[in-house]
Amino acid sequence: MTRDKPLLRALAGEVLPTPPVWLMRQAGRYLPEYRATRAQAGDFLALCYTPELAAEVTLQPIRRYGFDAAILFADILLLPHALGTDLWFVTGEGPRLSPLTESRVLAALKGKDDIHDHLAPVYETIRILAHELPPGTALIGFAGAPWTVATYMIAGRGTPDQGPAHALKGRDRGTFNALIDLLTGATIEYLSKQVEAGAEVVKLFDSWAGSLQGADFDRYAVAPVKRIIAALKSRHPGLPVIAFPRGAGRHYAGFARTAGADALALDTSVDVVWATGHLQPDGCVQGNLDPGLMVTGGQPLIDATRHIVAALSGGPHIFNLGHGMTPDADPENVHVMLEAIRNPAGRAPATPV
Ligand code: CP3
Repeated sequence: MTRDKPLLRALAGEVLPTPPVWLMRQAGRYLPEYRATRAQAGDFLALCYTPELAAEVTLQPIRRYGFDAAILFADILLLPHALGTDLWFVTGEGPRLSPLTESRVLAALKGKDDIHDHLAPVYETIRILAHELPPGTALIGFAGAPWTVATYMIAGRGTPDQGPAHALKGRDRGTFNALIDLLTGATIEYLSKQVEAGAEVVKLFDSWAGSLQGADFDRYAVAPVKRIIAALKSRHPGLPVIAFPRGAGRHYAGFARTAGADALALDTSVDVVWATGHLQPDGCVQGNLDPGLMVTGGQPLIDATRHIVAALSGGPHIFNLGHGMTPDADPENVHVMLEAIRNPAGRAPATPV
């Protein structure tokens, strides 16, 4: 039954005639129905922590577009919240957390060891979705990778260059390593519970992997992700895992094999023709389409979609963006993209012109 889901087949290495498709941030402010449910919840965090409403916004893009996967509606910052960090969102600006100094890292390390009470609404959202999704739609759970989550915890907000996290790493390696270890262990427990609740695939978002250089890339972008994947696969044999080391550049080569991931999510900078020879031999790839094209649309969107589909058609492929949908995306452009995936260049149009 589950093996009939196109997304799971692609993750298992099958080459399908048309790639399964879903989009990062497919539930979000570009959809009027999302804005309405978010208003009903009051704010973004209330939406994340109210299972009926979080399940509703997860289902909205599935109803509208019939995607092959639903991704749990939550946020990577719910885990530090569960660990005892204050978290709030400033409208139009993004997340804020109480920033961690060395002493506060140590306090956080001594903090709550039971994260599951706090995260129970997330697991409940997954249980609702496991019942309500159409039979062919796979359910993806997720977490942030430890480095990316640490960058927000240390700075207390998003930063252009992850400066505060790099500074702590340079100043006090021991404290920094302890934080990464804490997050690695907590992420294993968090994702494991998501799988027990009904997530069929998990994805690790390492949005800031690209700012790690040299040995630090191996230590903080590869090693923790490898440890998480190994632990999850030993507890849940056969669980497919997608890794997203955004901005990894040349480090994309070999990443899936080394980390043990079944699929690699490609940012917009990866050349898909290069990926066919260097990444697809190691497993499934997904992503790459510039989310800006979902704002501007037209022939450039159709051409870029067809280029990705054609380039990656010889190996396992899931169609996706190189980063998340933005609030100014046009919902109609998703239909344009879906039509271009299903009717790629070279196939005769239904009505010749
Ligand atoms: O993809 C999905 O549809 C699932 C839900 C999801 C959200 N965030 C919802 C969200 C997922 C998988 C995430 C991951 C996430 N969150 C990442 C990693 C992926 C990436 O984008 O790099 C990061 C870095 C975060 C942290 C975060 N959450 C930031 C920086 C922001 C503010 C930026 C923004 O777009 O406003 C958020 C808020 C957030 N998370 C929104 C959504 C739909 C917008 C909140 C709103 O409705 O106001």
